[in-house]
Amino acid sequence: MIVSIDDLRQRARRRLPRTVFDYVEGAADDGFTSGANRRGFDRYLFRARALVDVSAVDHSTTLLGEKLATPIILGPTGLAGLLAPRGEELAAKAAASRGTVFTLSTMSIGTLEEVAAAAPSPLWFQLYVWKDRSVTRALVERAKAAGYRALCLTVDVPVMGNREQDRRNGFTLPPRVQFSNVMDVLRHLGWVLRMSKSPRATFGNFVDHPSLTRTDAVGVARFTNSQFDPSVTWKDVEWLRSIWTGPLVLKGITCAEDARQAVSLGVEAVIVSNHGGRQLDFLPGAIDVLPEVVDAVEGRAEVILDGGIRRGSDVVKAVAMGARACMVGRPFLYGLAADGQAGVELSLDILTSEIDRTLALLGRPRLRELDRSALRVDTPATL
Ligand code: FNR
Repeated sequence: MIVSIDDLRQRARRRLPRTVFDYVEGAADDGFTSGANRRGFDRYLFRARALVDVSAVDHSTTLLGEKLATPIILGPTGLAGLLAPRGEELAAKAAASRGTVFTLSTMSIGTLEEVAAAAPSPLWFQLYVWKDRSVTRALVERAKAAGYRALCLTVDVPVMGNREQDRRNGFTLPPRVQFSNVMDVLRHLGWVLRMSKSPRATFGNFVDHPSLTRTDAVGVARFTNSQFDPSVTWKDVEWLRSIWTGPLVLKGITCAEDARQAVSLGVEAVIVSNHGGRQLDFLPGAIDVLPEVVDAVEGRAEVILDGGIRRGSDVVKAVAMGARACMVGRPFLYGLAADGQAGVELSLDILTSEIDRTLALLGRPRLRELDRSALRVDTPATL
């Protein structure tokens, strides 16, 4: 029976070949930051109020001027279409059915246009800056034409992080059957069968790219390292600001200086994120740097917390610390692998019902009115 995000994770693990599950779980180097994203929440304990009328709990919020039915939005995850055929479309539909945002990664399997056509959800497009600026510009223009509401520039991948498990597994696109994984693939024929219905098994937005053909087994890190521009700077943010008229969001902010610079360039929202611990290892947990960023921004942009959310109580803590909403990656991917669109919906339902219960027990029925008085920080005696 599935009652928690961890149950969904177990189900995903059973249904996916090892190389694909490892890709989802993947963390950089020693996995310190990936673990810190979870451990960080343990430092924040609640200060509950008793005898408050909590018969009507309200967890809704607004983000970039739009009302969200839940404070959880779906983050950009490359290759989600490897977990289920048309995975990005399914996740976008699930987000729409739960009244929230789906963010499409540049490195998705479904194309920008396919996902926009499939889902009425408020869609955001996540951008990586390519060395060839005409490719970058074309992506921005396609996102605009397809009706994406916000552009989310990820700023923590000047080069790819060191995901050693993917290297050991020889993770390629399309996934390859090799001597080392043939038994594992045979144990997951259900996945092989399901994926045979997928329109493709490579980066959909670049099917025509010369170094990416349908039949080629391309080392994912090698490909992205050869295409992403390590010389990206704040000048490029200014450039994007000038060619993108909608809201601009920066994902991967982890300190006050960068938060202030983002605000000074008119960015509408910043996402406090360490890429789920997949990039620079030994960054602190995302929740640990949230207060620094919230204080630096001083309300001039919205702040979103991303990384390590596995419980509704995590969301409540982040909102109490000043986040407007939380972004999730792996939790909805587990749902997608476990049961397609219904699984993504279940992941959102689990987290949202946990938020409601937490708010009620906390004696703070309105999520939007939470503040730091709902928390105690650093209470080592109980840890
Ligand atoms: C990611 N993430 C990510 N971020 C991004 O900006 N562009 C991308 O293409 C990807 N791809 C990607 C693939 C997979 C498999 C994962 C797990 C993550 C990072 C993602 O948006 C988010 O920051 C983290 O997943 C948040 O941490 P949690 O929720 O997974 O703990």
